[in-house]
Amino acid sequence: MLTQALQAYSQRHDQFFGQQFQPVSTSQRLAQAMQYSALNGGKRIRPFLVYASGELLGAQLSDLDPCAVAVECVHAYSLIHDDLPAMDNDALRRGKPTCHIAFDEATAILAGDALQTMAFELLSQHTFAQVPVERQLAMIRSLATASGLAGMCGGQALDIEATNRAISITELEQIHHHKTGALITAAVELGVLAAPQSTADDLRVLRDWSHAIGLAFQVQDDILDETGDTQTLGKQQGSDAALAKATYPALLGLEQAIAKRDALHEKALHALSQLPYNTDIFVEFTHYIVTRDR
Ligand code: IPE
Ligand code: IPE
Ligand code: MG
Ligand code: MG
Ligand code: MG
Repeated sequence: MLTQALQAYSQRHDQFFGQQFQPVSTSQRLAQAMQYSALNGGKRIRPFLVYASGELLGAQLSDLDPCAVAVECVHAYSLIHDDLPAMDNDALRRGKPTCHIAFDEATAILAGDALQTMAFELLSQHTFAQVPVERQLAMIRSLATASGLAGMCGGQALDIEATNRAISITELEQIHHHKTGALITAAVELGVLAAPQSTADDLRVLRDWSHAIGLAFQVQDDILDETGDTQTLGKQQGSDAALAKATYPALLGLEQAIAKRDALHEKALHALSQLPYNTDIFVEFTHYIVTRDR
């Protein structure tokens, strides 16, 4: 069930994203770099979260398209910039050369910038069928907050500041919640906001769930950097250790990192159990987040 849903949502996302490039009135090269980074490989976890949360609560698929693409645009931009020489300096992403290697640094910086603005263009220009303008504004605010100083960018800055330095587990959790968790929570929030009947309780419970899976997702990312292989991961194994990054395995050891991930899995399932709906696919997705090998 999950595999089919991931595939169907991913296709929908890719199609809507592709439509944004018809026509390209300026640089073909920049447009290519944006599409290269957003469409090549990738699990489309954040679009899944938008679509699944929205559909669970009665949102229209056509109202979820711009939301799913907007969150994934910010994600793709964050990966392009994360891989730059000034940040993690990685040459491999999704089994292919990173954007700055396939194109060049200037194009990679601009592709990230343009993907980020595309996200807000999409959310602000879309005529939603079931979303009143106040909710549309709340969507824009949610994604903006999750992307900037209080979210992903803030977390990325803390991640860099923590490199080569001993930090506490509380600090590490803050880094992970911001650099990765914030966008995962925003994806869920956008789905909920697109559903006209969604309640404050729905939002609270799904937010709790997203906090747990967001952190579990990055803990598993850290574990895979240590235990995975480059071929399967599609990115360089051992990149964190080479850069002396603050990660869960580095701070706690592999065994405790796995225990932390499994505790978050339990926490996420507990949150889901509070929803009065059929959440089978969310349970399956929670399992997938902590068992994935790429
Ligand atoms: C990688 O995210 C970066 C992190 C936040 C850990 P994903 O593992 O979701 O990357 P793709 O989109 O599937 O390539
Ligand atoms: C990056 O974390 C999170 C982002 C906001 C992009 P990582 O640096 O661990 O992500 P990977 O391992 O390069 O995908
Ligand atoms: Mg990084
Ligand atoms: Mg990285
Ligand atoms: Mg990583």
